[in-house]
Amino acid sequence: MQVSGKVLICDSIDQVGIDSLRRAGMTVDYMPEIKVNELISSIKDYDVIIVRSRTKISDEVINAATNTKIIARVGVGLDNIDVKAAESRNIRVINAAEAAMNAVSELTVGHMISLARSIPHADVETKKGNWIKKDLIGIELKGKYLGIIGVGNIGRNVARIAKALRMNLIGYDSYPINKDFIKEVGLITTDLDTLVESADFITCHVPLNQNTKHMFNIQRFSKMKSTAYIINTSRGEVIDEKALFEALTYGKIAGAALDVFEIEPPTNKMLLELPNVICTPHIGSQTKEAQELASMVIAEKVIQIMRGVI
Ligand SMILES: NC(=O)c1ccc[n+]([C@@H]2O[C@H](COP(=O)([O-])OP(=O)(O)OC[C@H]3O[C@@H](n4cnc5c(N)ncnc54)[C@H](O)[C@@H]3O)[C@@H](O)[C@H]2O)c1
Repeated sequence: MQVSGKVLICDSIDQVGIDSLRRAGMTVDYMPEIKVNELISSIKDYDVIIVRSRTKISDEVINAATNTKIIARVGVGLDNIDVKAAESRNIRVINAAEAAMNAVSELTVGHMISLARSIPHADVETKKGNWIKKDLIGIELKGKYLGIIGVGNIGRNVARIAKALRMNLIGYDSYPINKDFIKEVGLITTDLDTLVESADFITCHVPLNQNTKHMFNIQRFSKMKSTAYIINTSRGEVIDEKALFEALTYGKIAGAALDVFEIEPPTNKMLLELPNVICTPHIGSQTKEAQELASMVIAEKVIQIMRGVI
């Protein structure tokens, strides 16, 4: 069934979703560089607005969206959309929550192995001509305790990969964790502080909200083993970066790997320059497969909503 309607795409997304919307009969304007004033003046002409991270859909933008039915984010978090303002105007806000699961999980495990074996440092020194083999005694993941905070889509997938690496798994979630999954991976479920005290590696997969903001503060870092590592591929503000700097500098923990930061791009140079910190520029979902899948999922959801199916 063909569907009519106008779609404005404000950020760069994979072509596959654009083709799918057009095939379904929708008119698509692709403006990945659109500025906020242009968006405010033209938004009333569109039924659907599609964004990734660059475009901020603020209350002001939503006030101008008098005909918009759907705001879609080709990604997971909705941090760049004023969801309350949209919903108060009966605009549906949708995302592609599942699309990044594999990409983020694999990056998380990559960070964990990088920390355990100092791969980024070894690479830099070897390329400089420094043969620092004797300084690079790492640790193995096998048999270590991985603490997973937030056992949702990504947390569960990380657990499955880590099980294959023969790690022991500890999980904490504010909602009950599926019993079949607990059995499948042999997850030890516990409270947050017990997890923090017991784990050799801690990985965060929670959304950012008032309960998770600065979940890792100086008190929490103090509870970690001094040999333990933390990995954050969720949202930057889950970790208080000042407290992390202190914990790393005073040897309260062994190291950290960060894909996300309190401010992006990060300005906290002192933290980034520590030798026991590994950083990537928020590339969790930056894989060809995840981008294609997110674009496809969003196009399909938009088409179904416009057809009145969901
Ligand atoms: N680095 C990246 O590029 C990237 C890409 C995609 C997603 N993410 C982030 O990864 C995180 C997880 O995504 P997901 O798809 O697995 O989400 P999800 O909703 O499937 O899982 C999140 C889990 O966290 C739990 N949770 C919520 N509040 C909690 C709390 N206070 N304490 C403990 N658990 C809590 C939820 O119950 C849920 O099980 C999100 O922050 C998301 O924004 C990052």
